[in-house]
Amino acid sequence: MKKILALILAVLMVVSLAACGTTTTTDADATEKAQLVMGTNAAFPPYEFYDEDGQTIIGIDAEIAKAVADKLDMELTIKDMEFDSLLTAVQSGAVDIVFAGLTVTDERKESVDFSVTYATGIQVIIVKDGSDIASVDDLAGKTIGVQAGTTGDIYCTDEFGQDNVKQFGNGALAVAALQNDQVDCVVIDNEPAKSFVAANDGLKILETEYAVEDYAAAISKDNADLTEKVNAAMEELKADGTIDAILAKYIKAE
Ligand code: ARG
Repeated sequence: MKKILALILAVLMVVSLAACGTTTTTDADATEKAQLVMGTNAAFPPYEFYDEDGQTIIGIDAEIAKAVADKLDMELTIKDMEFDSLLTAVQSGAVDIVFAGLTVTDERKESVDFSVTYATGIQVIIVKDGSDIASVDDLAGKTIGVQAGTTGDIYCTDEFGQDNVKQFGNGALAVAALQNDQVDCVVIDNEPAKSFVAANDGLKILETEYAVEDYAAAISKDNADLTEKVNAAMEELKADGTIDAILAKYIKAE
């Protein structure tokens, strides 16, 4: 009799241990919620960049995306990738949404849908102190550094020709090339420009703006349902001041 009891106890223990195993390995929250996979290129402060531990992507886009996901009761994951593969990633379904300080353009509208806009971007010109480039009018014939696939790249290539434009994987690499005199200037969005100039000696941003643009999230044209939900969430986050607060947190008034 004792042996049978011991056996039953042993079986019960194994069963309950196994049960423990399954509950501890599964994050109940993560399985319940639908996933919202965001693609970005996290070398674009203050919109997306790594915090000091080098592990977590933070910034305006990460926070807006998190607020949108919370509103939709979804679980946000962020994938860091090359900027020029983001739109293909959202078209193929590798990511659900792109938040990347992404400029709305007519050409991009042919391949993806855009959400409502949430910020303004300005393409500016970074030069070394003492440069003979004083405005956009001086760019002809110069070597311009850009981040590959960005609007800065597209506009400069259109206007000044491919031979005058050098593409880099991100803005920081373009700025490093400017420091090493491999390019004469860098054309990039104003907020990242400010942070790159702050992090490097001897650089300045020209007063003349090259182009003014709007940022929005991109979603697949096959996912109209998500676009509608994201837009509704973003309208609420605009109306209740959440988006303004996130922008103000990362962009200090001059
Ligand atoms: N606004 C520019 C564009 O849409 C540059 C965006 C770059 N974003 C980034 N996360 N690296 O082309």
